[in-house]
Amino acid sequence: MLTEIDAPPPENAAPLPVRAALVRKPLNVLQSWQASRQNLLTIIPDISTRQPIVSGRTGTRWHMVTDPTAIRHVLLENVDTYPKSIVTKNLLRPAIGDSLFIAEGKHWRWQRRTAAPAFSHRNVAALGPVMTRAATRSADRIAQAGNRAVNLLDEMITTTFDVISDVTFSGDTGFDRAAVHRAIDLYIADAGKVSLLDVLGAPDWIPRPGRNLATNGMGDMKAAADRVIDARQAQGSQDVPDLLDLLLEGEDPKTGRRMTTGEIRDNLLTFIVAGHETTALTLAWSLYLCAFDPDVQERARTEVQSALQGRAATADDLSRLPYIRQIIDEALRLYPPAAIVSRTALAQDTLCGTQIHPGDTVIIPIYALHRSHLLWHDPDQFDPDRWAHGAKPDRYAYLPFGDGPRICIGASFALQEAVIILATLLGRFRFKSVKGVDPDPVMIITLRPEGGVWLEAEPL
Ligand code: HEM
Repeated sequence: MLTEIDAPPPENAAPLPVRAALVRKPLNVLQSWQASRQNLLTIIPDISTRQPIVSGRTGTRWHMVTDPTAIRHVLLENVDTYPKSIVTKNLLRPAIGDSLFIAEGKHWRWQRRTAAPAFSHRNVAALGPVMTRAATRSADRIAQAGNRAVNLLDEMITTTFDVISDVTFSGDTGFDRAAVHRAIDLYIADAGKVSLLDVLGAPDWIPRPGRNLATNGMGDMKAAADRVIDARQAQGSQDVPDLLDLLLEGEDPKTGRRMTTGEIRDNLLTFIVAGHETTALTLAWSLYLCAFDPDVQERARTEVQSALQGRAATADDLSRLPYIRQIIDEALRLYPPAAIVSRTALAQDTLCGTQIHPGDTVIIPIYALHRSHLLWHDPDQFDPDRWAHGAKPDRYAYLPFGDGPRICIGASFALQEAVIILATLLGRFRFKSVKGVDPDPVMIITLRPEGGVWLEAEPL
């Protein structure tokens, strides 16, 4: 056994939704490696939920930081000292090139300036109808399942892929979306066989099993994407510009530089890779939590019924659905899809009184940050009311989208999509858990409900 099982809660305590067993004893390199192959969360020491910094050495020196002031220093004030860890970049570069997610310094800055307007409030709101249509199609598919339980994890992956492919390559014929989906999934599944050695920054010569990345499928897919981009450029923008149109029109306000076909393709693929599974997981976990707590679900449904009167949700409904948003915020706290973020220190520094040396890996275990006993009341409880009336925690205590200049560019896109889909589904079905079939929180690259989210969907 690598971990000790938590002590059972007192008999009268409210039940807790599923959680990962964090490690209670120091692990040696081999144990860490084995644990991380199955679930990266199990490398997080439980003590991280009670103390601001935990340091260790597994090949490289590493530090897990859960102190909001120190995190602010890493992500904002001293950001140049802490670029994204080399490992993350090496892992993703074959798929998404030197795009926004990966680039550093000047090359990152101009891409961010050029892409930012595509995610303005106005442009994201204009993409709302795509999300509403995908939500309706999802509800129709769920209805077809009849009395059988549905795996809402798979269903949400299909639905969010529907959205992201519609807002990147909308209306383009001759582009095999299913093939794109397959190539990306295959690549990510392969890349996901990442070991602790990778995350903690062991040298490249240490052999990693499963390091046989499916780059061939990616090559074909990139060529197909390039053809679509060139064709769209020739044909001009559509009535409602999608993300491809917006990137084609995009221009660095500082230098006037525009993206090449290859740069646009890498960024569109980045949006697909970074945006589709993360949003699907948010939704799958939100649905799990709604089934876990039927009272919360009923309250949410009352809100939905009064706001929507039986129709699907749109971007205009967001302000009328505050409780749906609270559920999503709480799901992102308990199960942040990007549950671990890591950086490599470039210079000598001090965090929470600990010396950081150049080359050290600084890890922000967002999963532990969001369950810190120093920062949250009853951190393992599902309680959407902690977000009532716009209540906000310390900004650097809640980081589902990261923060600082590298904050997720798609955060408002994802939140709008999640509210539209969750509200639409809760307006059509009552979701009930299937006895004895709970998902397991497992992190490979993202934090997934392993085993799926199997729920009965009773039509209303
Ligand atoms: C609930 C859904 C999402 C979650 C939880 C999420 C989470 C994150 C996090 C934590 C980061 C920062 C990583 C770091 O600092 O190391 C990030 C960056 C990023 N995300 Fe998201 N994301 C989501 C949805 C999206 C969507 C929908 C898109 C695009 C359509 C997107 C595109 C990106 C990009 C391009 C970056 C890199 C930004 C930069 O470095 O300038 N994400 N995301």
